[in-house]
Amino acid sequence: MDNKLKFACPCHFGLESVLKFEVSKIGGENIIVKDGRVSFEGGYDLLARANICLSTAERVLIELAEFHAVTFEELFQGVKKIPLENFIGMKDAFPVKGHSLNSALHSVPDCQSIIKKAAVERLKAKYHTGWFEETGAVHQLQFSILKDNVTIYLDTSGAGLHKRGYRRNANAAPIKETLAAGIIDLARVRSGSTVCDPFCGSGTFLIESALKALNIPPCINRRFAAEKWDCIPQKVWQEERQRAISLVNKEAEFEAFGFDIDEEAVALSTDNAKKAGVKSRIRIKQADISDFKPVPGSITVCNPPYGERMLEIREAEQLYTEMGKVMNPSAENPCYIISPHEEFEQFFGKKADKKRKLYNGMIKCNLYMYFR
Ligand SMILES: C[S@@+](CC[C@H](N)C(=O)[O-])C[C@H]1O[C@@H](n2cnc3c(N)ncnc32)[C@H](O)[C@@H]1O
Repeated sequence: MDNKLKFACPCHFGLESVLKFEVSKIGGENIIVKDGRVSFEGGYDLLARANICLSTAERVLIELAEFHAVTFEELFQGVKKIPLENFIGMKDAFPVKGHSLNSALHSVPDCQSIIKKAAVERLKAKYHTGWFEETGAVHQLQFSILKDNVTIYLDTSGAGLHKRGYRRNANAAPIKETLAAGIIDLARVRSGSTVCDPFCGSGTFLIESALKALNIPPCINRRFAAEKWDCIPQKVWQEERQRAISLVNKEAEFEAFGFDIDEEAVALSTDNAKKAGVKSRIRIKQADISDFKPVPGSITVCNPPYGERMLEIREAEQLYTEMGKVMNPSAENPCYIISPHEEFEQFFGKKADKKRKLYNGMIKCNLYMYFR
Protein backbone atom coordinates (compact mmCIF):
# COMPACT_ATOMS: atom_id res chain seq x y z
CA MET A 1 0.00 0.00 0.00
CA ASP A 2 1.18 3.51 -0.81
CA ASN A 3 -0.28 5.49 2.05
CA LYS A 4 1.33 5.15 5.43
CA LEU A 5 -0.79 4.26 8.41
CA LYS A 6 -0.35 5.70 11.85
CA PHE A 7 -0.10 3.11 14.61
CA ALA A 8 -0.36 3.45 18.38
CA CYS A 9 0.80 0.75 20.79
CA PRO A 10 -0.18 1.06 24.45
CA CYS A 11 2.37 -0.32 26.94
CA HIS A 12 2.92 -0.55 30.71
CA PHE A 13 3.72 2.84 32.25
CA GLY A 14 7.50 2.94 32.64
CA LEU A 15 8.25 0.77 29.58
CA GLU A 16 7.84 3.46 26.90
CA SER A 17 11.59 3.72 26.19
CA VAL A 18 11.92 -0.06 25.85
CA LEU A 19 8.99 -0.18 23.41
CA LYS A 20 10.36 2.80 21.48
CA PHE A 21 13.61 0.91 20.91
CA GLU A 22 11.69 -2.20 19.80
CA VAL A 23 9.62 -0.14 17.35
CA SER A 24 12.72 1.46 15.84
CA LYS A 25 14.29 -2.01 15.49
CA ILE A 26 11.38 -3.31 13.41
CA GLY A 27 11.44 -0.24 11.14
CA GLY A 28 8.76 2.07 12.60
CA GLU A 29 8.99 5.63 11.25
CA ASN A 30 8.28 8.99 12.90
CA ILE A 31 8.15 7.46 16.36
CA ILE A 32 6.45 9.53 19.05
CA VAL A 33 6.51 8.55 22.73
CA LYS A 34 3.70 9.54 25.10
CA ASP A 35 2.79 8.35 28.58
CA GLY A 36 1.91 4.67 28.28
CA ARG A 37 2.04 4.51 24.50
CA VAL A 38 4.28 4.71 21.44
CA SER A 39 3.03 5.92 18.03
CA PHE A 40 4.73 5.37 14.69
CA GLU A 41 4.04 5.07 10.97
CA GLY A 42 4.30 2.30 8.41
CA GLY A 43 2.40 0.04 6.02
CA TYR A 44 0.54 -3.24 6.39
CA ASP A 45 3.85 -5.12 6.54
CA LEU A 46 4.77 -3.16 9.65
CA LEU A 47 1.31 -3.77 11.12
CA ALA A 48 1.88 -7.53 10.86
CA ARG A 49 5.51 -7.27 12.05
CA ALA A 50 4.53 -5.20 15.08
CA ASN A 51 1.93 -7.77 16.14
CA ILE A 52 4.29 -10.71 15.66
CA CYS A 53 7.51 -9.20 17.05
CA LEU A 54 6.92 -6.50 19.67
CA SER A 55 7.39 -7.97 23.13
CA THR A 56 6.30 -4.99 25.28
CA ALA A 57 3.30 -3.65 23.29
CA GLU A 58 -0.14 -4.47 24.69
CA ARG A 59 -1.75 -4.24 21.25
CA VAL A 60 -1.33 -2.58 17.86
CA LEU A 61 -3.97 0.04 17.03
CA ILE A 62 -4.42 1.97 13.80
CA GLU A 63 -4.97 5.63 14.64
CA LEU A 64 -7.77 6.63 12.26
CA ALA A 65 -8.47 10.21 13.32
CA GLU A 66 -7.88 12.81 15.98
CA PHE A 67 -10.15 15.84 16.42
CA HIS A 68 -11.66 18.24 18.94
CA ALA A 69 -15.31 17.65 19.95
CA VAL A 70 -17.52 19.07 22.68
CA THR A 71 -20.90 18.21 21.11
CA PHE A 72 -22.39 14.94 19.82
CA GLU A 73 -22.72 16.58 16.40
CA GLU A 74 -18.97 17.29 16.30
CA LEU A 75 -18.27 13.72 17.38
CA PHE A 76 -20.65 12.37 14.72
CA GLN A 77 -19.16 14.49 11.92
CA GLY A 78 -15.58 13.71 12.99
CA VAL A 79 -16.22 9.96 12.75
CA LYS A 80 -18.28 10.19 9.55
CA LYS A 81 -15.26 11.72 7.78
CA ILE A 82 -13.08 8.64 8.41
CA PRO A 83 -12.67 6.38 5.34
CA LEU A 84 -13.76 3.29 7.27
CA GLU A 85 -14.59 1.46 4.01
CA ASN A 86 -10.82 1.14 3.45
CA PHE A 87 -10.79 -1.40 6.30
CA ILE A 88 -14.35 -2.53 7.03
CA GLY A 89 -16.13 -4.69 4.45
CA MET A 90 -19.90 -4.82 3.90
CA LYS A 91 -20.39 -7.92 6.10
CA ASP A 92 -17.77 -7.15 8.75
CA ALA A 93 -18.52 -6.49 12.41
CA PHE A 94 -17.52 -3.10 13.84
CA PRO A 95 -18.26 -2.91 17.57
CA VAL A 96 -17.32 0.29 19.43
CA LYS A 97 -15.77 0.75 22.88
CA GLY A 98 -13.74 3.41 24.63
CA HIS A 99 -13.34 5.85 27.47
CA SER A 100 -13.70 9.54 28.26
CA LEU A 101 -11.82 11.63 30.81
CA ASN A 102 -12.15 15.31 31.77
CA SER A 103 -14.31 16.05 28.71
CA ALA A 104 -17.67 17.62 27.91
CA LEU A 105 -18.65 14.34 26.20
CA HIS A 106 -18.42 12.28 29.37
CA SER A 107 -21.10 9.62 28.88
CA VAL A 108 -19.33 6.60 27.41
CA PRO A 109 -22.53 4.76 26.32
CA ASP A 110 -23.78 7.89 24.52
CA CYS A 111 -20.43 8.41 22.75
CA GLN A 112 -20.41 4.73 21.84
CA SER A 113 -23.81 4.94 20.15
CA ILE A 114 -23.02 8.23 18.35
CA ILE A 115 -19.78 6.75 16.97
CA LYS A 116 -21.61 3.61 15.88
CA LYS A 117 -24.29 5.70 14.14
CA ALA A 118 -21.66 7.78 12.34
CA ALA A 119 -19.81 4.63 11.22
CA VAL A 120 -23.08 3.11 9.94
CA GLU A 121 -23.94 6.35 8.06
CA ARG A 122 -20.50 6.40 6.43
CA LEU A 123 -20.66 2.74 5.36
CA LYS A 124 -24.30 2.97 4.22
CA ALA A 125 -23.35 5.66 1.71
CA LYS A 126 -20.34 3.65 0.49
CA TYR A 127 -21.99 0.23 0.25
CA HIS A 128 -25.49 1.44 -0.77
CA THR A 129 -27.18 -0.68 1.83
CA GLY A 130 -29.33 0.17 4.83
CA TRP A 131 -28.55 -2.97 6.84
CA PHE A 132 -25.29 -4.46 8.11
CA GLU A 133 -25.40 -8.07 9.21
CA GLU A 134 -21.96 -7.82 10.90
CA THR A 135 -21.23 -11.53 10.58
CA GLY A 136 -17.74 -11.09 9.11
CA ALA A 137 -14.31 -10.27 10.55
CA VAL A 138 -14.27 -8.16 13.72
CA HIS A 139 -12.99 -4.60 13.36
CA GLN A 140 -13.03 -3.26 16.91
CA LEU A 141 -13.33 0.53 16.91
CA GLN A 142 -11.93 2.22 20.01
CA PHE A 143 -12.30 5.81 21.11
CA SER A 144 -10.41 7.85 23.63
CA ILE A 145 -11.71 11.28 24.67
CA LEU A 146 -9.24 13.22 26.75
CA LYS A 147 -9.82 16.89 27.57
CA ASP A 148 -12.24 17.15 24.59
CA ASN A 149 -9.69 15.65 22.23
CA VAL A 150 -11.11 12.60 20.45
CA THR A 151 -8.93 9.84 19.00
CA ILE A 152 -10.48 6.98 17.03
CA TYR A 153 -8.58 3.71 16.70
CA LEU A 154 -9.03 0.37 15.00
CA ASP A 155 -7.65 -2.60 16.96
CA THR A 156 -5.58 -4.99 14.83
CA SER A 157 -4.54 -7.43 17.58
CA GLY A 158 -7.75 -8.89 19.01
CA ALA A 159 -6.68 -10.61 22.24
CA GLY A 160 -4.00 -8.57 24.07
CA LEU A 161 -0.45 -9.24 22.89
CA HIS A 162 0.54 -10.54 26.35
CA LYS A 163 -1.33 -13.67 25.27
CA ARG A 164 1.60 -15.37 23.55
CA GLY A 165 -0.06 -18.79 23.63
CA TYR A 166 2.43 -20.58 25.90
CA ARG A 167 0.97 -19.96 29.35
CA ARG A 168 -1.77 -21.80 31.20
CA ASN A 169 -3.64 -19.39 33.44
CA ALA A 170 -3.53 -21.59 36.50
CA ASN A 171 -0.93 -20.13 38.87
CA ALA A 172 -1.59 -17.28 41.29
CA ALA A 173 -0.08 -13.80 40.68
CA PRO A 174 1.81 -14.43 37.44
CA ILE A 175 3.54 -11.39 36.01
CA LYS A 176 2.18 -10.21 32.67
CA GLU A 177 4.35 -11.39 29.77
CA THR A 178 4.68 -7.86 28.32
CA LEU A 179 5.88 -6.47 31.67
CA ALA A 180 8.28 -9.39 32.15
CA ALA A 181 9.69 -8.77 28.65
CA GLY A 182 10.30 -5.11 29.51
CA ILE A 183 12.02 -5.98 32.77
CA ILE A 184 14.37 -8.50 31.18
CA ASP A 185 15.26 -5.86 28.61
CA LEU A 186 16.08 -3.39 31.38
CA ALA A 187 18.12 -6.18 33.02
CA ARG A 188 20.13 -6.39 29.77
CA VAL A 189 19.30 -10.03 29.10
CA ARG A 190 20.71 -10.84 25.66
CA SER A 191 21.98 -13.85 23.73
CA GLY A 192 24.95 -15.07 25.77
CA SER A 193 23.18 -14.36 29.08
CA THR A 194 22.41 -16.79 31.87
CA VAL A 195 19.26 -15.99 33.85
CA CYS A 196 18.05 -17.15 37.28
CA ASP A 197 14.58 -16.72 38.80
CA PRO A 198 14.28 -18.06 42.38
CA PHE A 199 10.49 -17.38 42.45
CA CYS A 200 9.72 -18.61 38.95
CA GLY A 201 5.97 -19.34 39.38
CA SER A 202 4.71 -20.02 35.86
CA GLY A 203 8.16 -19.34 34.37
CA THR A 204 7.40 -16.04 32.63
CA PHE A 205 10.81 -14.35 33.18
CA LEU A 206 12.66 -17.50 32.13
CA ILE A 207 10.59 -17.98 28.98
CA GLU A 208 10.58 -14.30 27.94
CA SER A 209 14.37 -14.27 28.50
CA ALA A 210 14.82 -17.31 26.26
CA LEU A 211 12.62 -15.80 23.54
CA LYS A 212 14.67 -12.60 23.67
CA ALA A 213 18.07 -14.36 23.68
CA LEU A 214 17.17 -16.62 20.74
CA ASN A 215 15.34 -13.79 18.95
CA ILE A 216 12.12 -15.81 18.82
CA PRO A 217 9.20 -13.47 18.03
CA PRO A 218 6.93 -13.62 21.09
CA CYS A 219 3.64 -13.81 19.18
CA ILE A 220 4.70 -16.08 16.32
CA ASN A 221 2.38 -18.86 17.51
CA ARG A 222 -0.86 -16.91 17.75
CA ARG A 223 -3.37 -15.20 15.49
CA PHE A 224 -4.46 -11.58 15.28
CA ALA A 225 -7.82 -9.94 14.53
CA ALA A 226 -6.46 -8.22 11.41
CA GLU A 227 -5.45 -11.56 9.88
CA LYS A 228 -9.11 -11.99 8.96
CA TRP A 229 -9.40 -8.59 7.31
CA ASP A 230 -9.85 -8.59 3.54
CA CYS A 231 -7.90 -5.33 3.17
CA ILE A 232 -4.61 -6.97 4.18
CA PRO A 233 -3.38 -9.60 1.70
CA GLN A 234 -2.60 -12.98 3.32
CA LYS A 235 0.79 -12.78 1.60
CA VAL A 236 1.76 -9.94 3.95
CA TRP A 237 1.20 -12.15 7.02
CA GLN A 238 2.99 -15.12 5.44
CA GLU A 239 6.00 -13.01 4.48
CA GLU A 240 6.21 -11.37 7.89
CA ARG A 241 6.00 -14.73 9.68
CA GLN A 242 8.74 -16.13 7.43
CA ARG A 243 10.88 -13.04 7.92
CA ALA A 244 10.55 -13.29 11.72
CA ILE A 245 11.34 -17.02 11.72
CA SER A 246 14.40 -16.47 9.52
CA LEU A 247 15.82 -14.13 12.17
CA VAL A 248 15.62 -16.71 14.99
CA ASN A 249 19.08 -17.48 16.33
CA LYS A 250 18.79 -21.13 17.37
CA GLU A 251 22.50 -21.36 18.09
CA ALA A 252 22.57 -18.43 20.52
CA GLU A 253 24.16 -19.16 23.88
CA PHE A 254 21.58 -18.98 26.61
CA GLU A 255 20.62 -20.85 29.74
CA ALA A 256 18.07 -20.18 32.46
CA PHE A 257 17.52 -21.64 35.91
CA GLY A 258 14.22 -21.43 37.72
CA PHE A 259 13.29 -22.34 41.29
CA ASP A 260 10.09 -22.25 43.27
CA ILE A 261 9.02 -23.66 46.62
CA ASP A 262 5.79 -24.90 45.07
CA GLU A 263 5.92 -28.25 43.24
CA GLU A 264 2.97 -27.26 41.07
CA ALA A 265 4.76 -24.11 39.93
CA VAL A 266 7.72 -26.27 38.88
CA ALA A 267 5.43 -28.47 36.77
CA LEU A 268 3.60 -25.46 35.37
CA SER A 269 6.71 -23.55 34.31
CA THR A 270 8.21 -26.70 32.78
CA ASP A 271 5.03 -27.21 30.79
CA ASN A 272 4.93 -23.56 29.70
CA ALA A 273 8.58 -23.65 28.61
CA LYS A 274 7.75 -26.72 26.48
CA LYS A 275 4.82 -24.91 24.88
CA ALA A 276 7.03 -21.92 24.13
CA GLY A 277 9.58 -24.22 22.46
CA VAL A 278 12.44 -23.24 24.81
CA LYS A 279 12.43 -26.14 27.30
CA SER A 280 15.93 -27.28 26.24
CA ARG A 281 17.35 -23.96 27.53
CA ILE A 282 15.62 -23.90 30.91
CA ARG A 283 16.11 -25.99 34.06
CA ILE A 284 13.55 -25.77 36.83
CA LYS A 285 13.78 -27.25 40.33
CA GLN A 286 11.80 -27.11 43.54
CA ALA A 287 13.75 -25.04 46.09
CA ASP A 288 13.26 -22.60 48.92
CA ILE A 289 14.83 -19.16 48.57
CA SER A 290 17.10 -19.91 51.53
CA ASP A 291 18.90 -22.50 49.36
CA PHE A 292 19.34 -20.14 46.40
CA LYS A 293 22.85 -19.66 44.99
CA PRO A 294 23.00 -17.59 41.81
CA VAL A 295 24.80 -19.38 38.99
CA PRO A 296 28.18 -17.56 38.56
CA GLY A 297 27.87 -14.86 35.91
CA SER A 298 24.06 -15.01 35.83
CA ILE A 299 21.46 -12.24 35.98
CA THR A 300 18.77 -12.79 38.63
CA VAL A 301 15.31 -11.46 37.72
CA CYS A 302 12.24 -12.03 39.88
CA ASN A 303 8.99 -10.82 41.37
CA PRO A 304 8.85 -12.23 44.89
CA PRO A 305 5.47 -12.69 46.59
CA TYR A 306 3.76 -9.63 47.99
CA GLY A 307 0.70 -10.26 50.13
CA GLU A 308 -2.35 -8.08 50.39
CA ARG A 309 -3.20 -8.89 54.00
CA MET A 310 -0.98 -7.76 56.87
CA LEU A 311 0.15 -11.29 57.75
CA GLU A 312 1.13 -12.03 54.17
CA ILE A 313 2.98 -8.71 53.96
CA ARG A 314 4.97 -9.60 57.09
CA GLU A 315 5.84 -12.98 55.53
CA ALA A 316 6.89 -11.24 52.32
CA GLU A 317 9.13 -8.91 54.32
CA GLN A 318 10.83 -11.92 55.93
CA LEU A 319 11.40 -13.34 52.45
CA TYR A 320 13.03 -10.05 51.34
CA THR A 321 15.44 -10.32 54.27
CA GLU A 322 16.19 -13.92 53.30
CA MET A 323 16.74 -12.82 49.68
CA GLY A 324 19.23 -10.19 50.84
CA LYS A 325 21.28 -12.90 52.56
CA VAL A 326 21.47 -15.29 49.59
CA MET A 327 21.41 -13.10 46.48
CA ASN A 328 24.46 -11.00 47.18
CA PRO A 329 24.25 -8.86 44.03
CA SER A 330 27.43 -7.71 42.29
CA ALA A 331 28.62 -6.64 38.83
CA GLU A 332 29.13 -10.33 38.07
CA ASN A 333 25.73 -11.35 39.43
CA PRO A 334 23.32 -8.44 38.97
CA CYS A 335 19.80 -8.70 40.42
CA TYR A 336 16.57 -7.09 39.19
CA ILE A 337 13.63 -7.35 41.55
CA ILE A 338 10.16 -5.87 41.02
CA SER A 339 8.14 -5.14 44.16
CA PRO A 340 5.36 -2.78 45.21
CA HIS A 341 6.77 -2.65 48.77
CA GLU A 342 7.99 0.90 49.45
CA GLU A 343 10.57 -0.32 51.96
CA PHE A 344 11.88 -3.26 49.98
CA GLU A 345 15.50 -2.05 50.18
CA GLN A 346 15.36 -1.85 53.98
CA PHE A 347 14.31 -5.50 54.29
CA PHE A 348 16.64 -6.65 51.51
CA GLY A 349 19.46 -4.88 53.35
CA LYS A 350 20.98 -3.04 50.40
CA LYS A 351 20.20 0.18 48.58
CA ALA A 352 19.51 -0.35 44.89
CA ASP A 353 22.04 1.09 42.40
CA LYS A 354 19.05 2.35 40.44
CA LYS A 355 15.27 2.25 40.79
CA ARG A 356 12.70 2.47 38.07
CA LYS A 357 9.03 3.14 38.62
CA LEU A 358 6.86 0.60 36.80
CA TYR A 359 3.14 -0.09 36.95
CA ASN A 360 1.99 -3.67 37.28
CA GLY A 361 -1.57 -2.98 36.11
CA MET A 362 -2.73 -0.30 38.56
CA ILE A 363 -0.18 -1.24 41.22
CA LYS A 364 2.75 1.13 41.54
CA CYS A 365 5.97 -0.86 41.78
CA ASN A 366 9.68 -0.27 41.65
CA LEU A 367 12.21 -2.28 39.73
CA TYR A 368 15.12 -2.46 42.17
CA MET A 369 18.26 -2.73 40.08
CA TYR A 370 21.48 -4.04 41.66
CA PHE A 371 24.39 -4.21 39.20
CA ARG A 372 27.53 -3.06 41.07
C1 LIG B 1 4.51 -13.57 42.49
S1 LIG B 1 4.82 -15.22 42.21
C2 LIG B 1 5.97 -15.21 40.89
C3 LIG B 1 5.27 -15.21 39.57
C4 LIG B 1 6.15 -15.52 38.40
N1 LIG B 1 7.08 -14.45 38.09
C5 LIG B 1 5.28 -15.84 37.20
O1 LIG B 1 5.42 -15.19 36.19
O2 LIG B 1 4.41 -16.71 37.29
C6 LIG B 1 5.82 -15.70 43.56
C7 LIG B 1 6.25 -17.15 43.58
O3 LIG B 1 7.13 -17.33 44.68
C8 LIG B 1 6.96 -18.65 45.19
N2 LIG B 1 7.48 -18.68 46.57
C9 LIG B 1 6.85 -18.27 47.72
N3 LIG B 1 7.66 -18.43 48.77
C10 LIG B 1 8.82 -18.97 48.31
C11 LIG B 1 10.04 -19.37 48.95
N4 LIG B 1 10.21 -19.27 50.24
N5 LIG B 1 11.04 -19.85 48.16
C12 LIG B 1 10.85 -19.97 46.81
N6 LIG B 1 9.70 -19.65 46.18
C13 LIG B 1 8.70 -19.14 46.92
C14 LIG B 1 5.46 -18.89 45.04
O4 LIG B 1 5.21 -20.29 44.99
C15 LIG B 1 5.13 -18.16 43.74
O5 LIG B 1 5.15 -19.04 42.64
